[in-house]
Amino acid sequence: MAPMPREWLRAEEREPEKNFRALRPRTLDEFIGQEKIKERLRIYIQAAKERGEPLDHVLLLSPPGLGKTTLAHIIAHELGVRIQISSGPAIERPGDLAAILTHLKRGDVFFIDEIHRLRRQVEEVLYPAMEEWKLDIVLGEGPHARSIRLDLAPFTLIGATTREGLLTAPLRDRFEVVFRLDYYAPEELAEIIRRAGERMRLEVTPEGALELAARARGTPRIALRLLRRARDLAQVEGDGIVDQRIARRTLELLGIDHEGLDSLDRKILEVIIDRFDGGPVGIETLAAALGEDKDTVMEFYEPYLIAKGFLRRTPQGRVATERAYQHLGRTTARLFEL
Ligand SMILES: Nc1ncnc2c1ncn2[C@@H]1O[C@H](COP(=O)(O)OP(=O)(O)OP(=O)(O)O)[C@@H](O)[C@H]1O
Ligand SMILES: [Mg+2]
Repeated sequence: MAPMPREWLRAEEREPEKNFRALRPRTLDEFIGQEKIKERLRIYIQAAKERGEPLDHVLLLSPPGLGKTTLAHIIAHELGVRIQISSGPAIERPGDLAAILTHLKRGDVFFIDEIHRLRRQVEEVLYPAMEEWKLDIVLGEGPHARSIRLDLAPFTLIGATTREGLLTAPLRDRFEVVFRLDYYAPEELAEIIRRAGERMRLEVTPEGALELAARARGTPRIALRLLRRARDLAQVEGDGIVDQRIARRTLELLGIDHEGLDSLDRKILEVIIDRFDGGPVGIETLAAALGEDKDTVMEFYEPYLIAKGFLRRTPQGRVATERAYQHLGRTTARLFEL
């Protein structure tokens, strides 16, 4: 089997965790890590419940796979309300939004994924709905158009996005609570793997779990996916147990190195170093040189490389750091920096 990290990482990236739905934590207690966020959420949820009011609108920000969708479900579950789910691109016209809003019951959660992709006219209908539970509907066209206001049931909007920079300021400002999910520590990911293993009735040794966790890019989705690949390997090449050997072999087959970087991560750094003298290089140019889509690079690859200190974002473009040179076993040509 040849390494296939790119396809592996991307192809299913957006796919709902079909086979993993049963593995999704349902309560705040089952949600590992993000302690600060959980602490605040517990307070806000309890306070809202005691007052019999909807929770304030919540904005969830993070790179893909860190638990935004999961957390939205958990919030609704903990509030004991229904959750209505949609996404920015799915709400095509103001009428689509109106249909959803008018069906919400008092206290319901309305979850909009990829909220940065909402159309402008749709966004404008959302503002009064968020602020004062009002829906403005325009009847007729041209000079005879008139607008009527309908009352909506007070609800909680939960917005999620991987691209904070693409949110419009007026939308962002209407969220009272903003949570930024961080990459997870290896120990936290190991715990997520351990629990998933239990529910899959799969034996995972502590060393095996930690080995996968340490190379899962701080991301639960990737950790769980690595676990699935390790399960296959344990079944075919081992005795069904995911131990350190099986974990290492899984990562090797996937071309994931000890820092958790896959071949495209390394290629990004290589291209910056070899073709652009370490940078700075603009994101458009970089993406073109990689034969990749700019958004994919910005959304799936860059954040982790930046968080790990391999890449820096400067006003002039992306720059490979000393750490990137070391990781790839190159000597720094940029002595002038010293
Ligand atoms: N803190 C956590 N504890 C346990 N499992 C988690 C945690 N966070 C995420 N997961 C699991 O990781 C997977 C990805 O999570 P989720 O789909 O919520 O991420 P996301 O931030 O919505 O990603 P995207 O940006 O791609 O929509 C799910 O299977 C989820 O159950
Ligand atoms: Mg999601």
